[in-house]
Amino acid sequence: MSEPVVLGIETSCDETGVALVRGHRLLANEVASSVAEHVRFGGVVPEVASRAHLQALAPTLARAIEKAELDWSEIDAIAVTAGPGLMGALVVGLSAAKTLALTLHKPLYGVNHLIGHVGVDLLDHGPLPQPALALLVSGGHSSILRVDDLARSVRQIGGTIDDAAGEAYDKVARLLGLPYPGGPVIDARAQLGDPTAIRFPRGLTARHDLERHRFDFSFSGLKTAVARWVELRRRDGLAVPLDDVAASFQEAVADVLSTKAIDACQTFGLTELLLGGGVAANSRLRQLLASRCQEVGVNLRRPRPDLCTDNGAMIAAVGVELVRAGVAPSALDISADPGLPVEVVSL
Ligand code: KG4
Ligand code: ZN
Repeated sequence: MSEPVVLGIETSCDETGVALVRGHRLLANEVASSVAEHVRFGGVVPEVASRAHLQALAPTLARAIEKAELDWSEIDAIAVTAGPGLMGALVVGLSAAKTLALTLHKPLYGVNHLIGHVGVDLLDHGPLPQPALALLVSGGHSSILRVDDLARSVRQIGGTIDDAAGEAYDKVARLLGLPYPGGPVIDARAQLGDPTAIRFPRGLTARHDLERHRFDFSFSGLKTAVARWVELRRRDGLAVPLDDVAASFQEAVADVLSTKAIDACQTFGLTELLLGGGVAANSRLRQLLASRCQEVGVNLRRPRPDLCTDNGAMIAAVGVELVRAGVAPSALDISADPGLPVEVVSL
């Protein structure tokens, strides 16, 4: 087959994403976000997210088709997020994708959202030399993955034992009185602060932790340390230097993530490192990881920041790999799986 044209649909959380790709070429990537509707609750409200997807999906789909200047008949396959995510939100995208697959007589691929985060870089930087290592850092996951074959074989080497990296950003923002989502706000405030002002803990890096959790992540202790530091300042009637706290917290996150990812590359003898997930948009993580990778001869692949957060392009990108690898399409009666494990690439 020539370069497959794949439609990608993403509705796992608060972004309705629809994209069209031809091979690794992005033709259209439309995202409608319901984040503004969740801000006053300080986090995503599942019912609000589902309803927003219902409203946004048809117009977002129409815009994507128009931008890509494609006819429906030119689409070769439909890829859709099957999990993990919010059940009600996933069902909206999955139902739409099934309907399209049925009416257009095209194969359906139920794709793992997390693999989408890792695979989106193929649209920016082309085919991935495999095996590769991936650092996946999103709102719900911080994982180190070994990617032997993006379409068929992804293994988790280490993961989150409590709060994920993005979750820590969101919780720390909340305790600092900053809005949801916390990542972009803390990233911006951190530019104005001193990352060495406060030495916050680096979770699971002590020698006794390394024996059992060498490639695992824990950010809950860091969040608590920030909370305690802020509380003590307030108790003593001192101002809280928000920019310094943000910069010091961000430094601790970027330090741990990059140290463990590079340790894994060296341990497994892998020289390709793929970064993905919402936290991959973080300026300090991108910079620190790039300089550390360069020092040890690892090639870092970082998708451009706007492809790091949730979108349809990442799902379409995995769809293309599945089509090319000849993986069997999904049955039309697949169910969304809110807890889909990271190692299951497609359903
Ligand atoms: O991957 P994603 O868009 O959704 C999930 O699959 O979870 O990730 C969302 C997470 C949020 O926790 C958000 O605060 C974080 O990514 N995030 C960032 C940045 N942009 C988004 N974290 C740090 N720095 C950023 N620039
Ligand atoms: Zn995501």
